[in-house]
Amino acid sequence: MLKRMSALLLVGATVMTMAACGSGGSGPASSGGGGGDTLTMGFSQVGAESGWRTANTKSVQDSAKAAGIELKFSDAQQKQENQIKAIRSFIQQKVDVIAFSPVVESGWDTVLKEAKNANIPVILTDRAVDSADTSLYKTFLGSDFVAEGKKAGQWLVEEYKDSTETVNIVELQGTTGSAPANDRKAGFAEVIGADPKFKVIASQTGDFTRAKGKEVMEAFLKSNPDIDVLYAHNDDMGLGAIEAIEGAGKVPGKDIKIITVDAVKDGMQALADGKINYIVECSPLLGPQLMDLAKKVAAGEQVPTRVETEETTFTQEQAKQALPSRQY
Ligand code: AHR
Repeated sequence: MLKRMSALLLVGATVMTMAACGSGGSGPASSGGGGGDTLTMGFSQVGAESGWRTANTKSVQDSAKAAGIELKFSDAQQKQENQIKAIRSFIQQKVDVIAFSPVVESGWDTVLKEAKNANIPVILTDRAVDSADTSLYKTFLGSDFVAEGKKAGQWLVEEYKDSTETVNIVELQGTTGSAPANDRKAGFAEVIGADPKFKVIASQTGDFTRAKGKEVMEAFLKSNPDIDVLYAHNDDMGLGAIEAIEGAGKVPGKDIKIITVDAVKDGMQALADGKINYIVECSPLLGPQLMDLAKKVAAGEQVPTRVETEETTFTQEQAKQALPSRQY
């Protein structure tokens, strides 16, 4: 009995554990898109690093259930090697469709070729890859992260339009090498770069987590006494930084203006409370569109190579109005 329980625990602990949604996770894969068979999707998630990610996972799992798709879900714990292992396991299990949110942009060609050779269509969701061969995946569903960075920069330009003084900015970047970190940095830099009064005096990764955001902001505050603005690539890092700013005896939103990306509930609450000044939305509710695309690619239908998420921005006043009905 004890042996059996240990074996079960071991299986539960392994990274490759597939939490099947719907019927059993290791059942035979069916041919997708017709004949009444259940479609099977292997989904490799980045991890559980942020409120955004938690909402995204829920959206994918709920939508798979609603669409009658059997989901084999794998959490990569922010590690590319875990995602590659998961994708190889999905190939072995002959799933109908593979979907994944790549933790970083580079280094996917080999495993994507393996999926292509096995005739399993791949959908990129949330984050892109930088593979030159775009035939390695069917479509990419997600946000325009460069546009998000630009929106953050545009708010800043407008906020300081009447000032001629230098604006000292610190930046908390997302996971190094990830598409949202690369693109949000680039979009923001492009917009503020047009005016030399904007100076990014420190920029470092906070890995999209609250704990790292706090830690890095503490270091920024120690080495830079005159920070005017914090640009954080997501709400969680911004929320961690708020703790650091308050710990240093400063008032977030006033002494240091804060711009973040995502618009998850905790971020929106901080915005409504005046601790954040502006949030650029990045929607995690990708599940329904992902399931639609999965059904189409499994049936051999043509789909657009890029499906972009619609999103908005929030001021403090807009956050107060939006909060009561915010889903995540
Ligand atoms: O890829 C989307 C980003 O990843 C979100 O903005 C961030 O919160 C998450 O961890």
